[in-house]
Amino acid sequence: MADLDQLENEARARIAGAATPDALEEARVALLGKQGSVSALMKTLGAMDPEERRTRGPAIQGLRQAVSDALGARKAELDAAVLEARLSTETLDLTLPAPEAPRGTVHPVSQVMDELAEIFADLGFSVATGPEIEDDWYNFTALNMPESHPARAMHDTFYFPDEAPPRDGHGRGRMLLRTHTSPVQVRTMMAKGAPLRIIAPGRVYRSDSDATHTPMFHQVEGLVIDRDIHLGHLKWTLETFLKAFFETEDIVLRLRPSYFPFTEPSVEVDVGFAIRDGKRVLGGSGDAPGHGWMELLGSGMVNARVIAMSGLDPDEWQGFAFGVGVDRLAMLKYGMDDLRAFFDGDVRWLRHYGFSAFDQPTLSGGVGAVGVGARA
Ligand code: PHE
Repeated sequence: MADLDQLENEARARIAGAATPDALEEARVALLGKQGSVSALMKTLGAMDPEERRTRGPAIQGLRQAVSDALGARKAELDAAVLEARLSTETLDLTLPAPEAPRGTVHPVSQVMDELAEIFADLGFSVATGPEIEDDWYNFTALNMPESHPARAMHDTFYFPDEAPPRDGHGRGRMLLRTHTSPVQVRTMMAKGAPLRIIAPGRVYRSDSDATHTPMFHQVEGLVIDRDIHLGHLKWTLETFLKAFFETEDIVLRLRPSYFPFTEPSVEVDVGFAIRDGKRVLGGSGDAPGHGWMELLGSGMVNARVIAMSGLDPDEWQGFAFGVGVDRLAMLKYGMDDLRAFFDGDVRWLRHYGFSAFDQPTLSGGVGAVGVGARA
């Protein structure tokens, strides 16, 4: 069948002559495409009588197969050539630095909580936690703020409509978002008994919003319960903690009589600072010229009624507690001035004030060792 042989020869020549993958694709369309010459031959099969189809059919099929094989072989050749060309022109410089992958940062609040846990761990404190959705009993009543106690008005509380189910013989009042970390004092005394040395960091909520107040903020509670704890222990602990946290020996505290229903006596703690270049710098007595006192935290000896309501015998056990704003500590140490930015989730702020995940605070390395406090 000379016509078929000739067509095959032409097809092979055309395929061999295709110098690029594009040219080969054109050849494929011209031969096997819908309008292609080989496809046209295939269509003639339908009009043949059975006898003719028996002889020409296999030949046409064979031609189609041969063309298809030749196309495949040429494609493999051309692809290899393209790859070869790329490999010979492209070089890989293994000495170049790797491109930097995007990295997140540790939020200053998380960083400061880690630093606090580290400092207090060194003083023998463990970390305790409690729920953010509390009930009235733990948040107020057990802390010696029974219903209608005027001190409740100091906390602008977010209440839920739900009443907490009574337990252990006492009603627990409405569910609420805890307004401070102090309920963890009660929970831990009830769960663990005494003696105790804990800190309890976490989120707290108050209906309050301006540059220095956000509806959600962070506190860390401290609690020490033992047989012979006195105010001197409280003062020493706070001084040691603040010197380690601010990484300076020059921390002067002023203890002021105050009132909290859950401590007696209660002590408000101020720290001395100087104004330098318009900024507050901790250090020195607040009474020195050019200095002032800044309120830092609330504390006191745990009220005997709280100890009793937490299931311990107040004649046997006593101790001190304190509560301090974590966000405020972060602002003071790392120099931010608007609390709201802490919770806006602005990536630019986080990049600037965040910490590298590798800046793990350790006392041996110094909580302020190189890198810690350096912007990631
Ligand atoms: N819970 C108090 C507050 O939120 C702080 C505090 C804690 C005071 C423990 C004394 C003892 O203001």
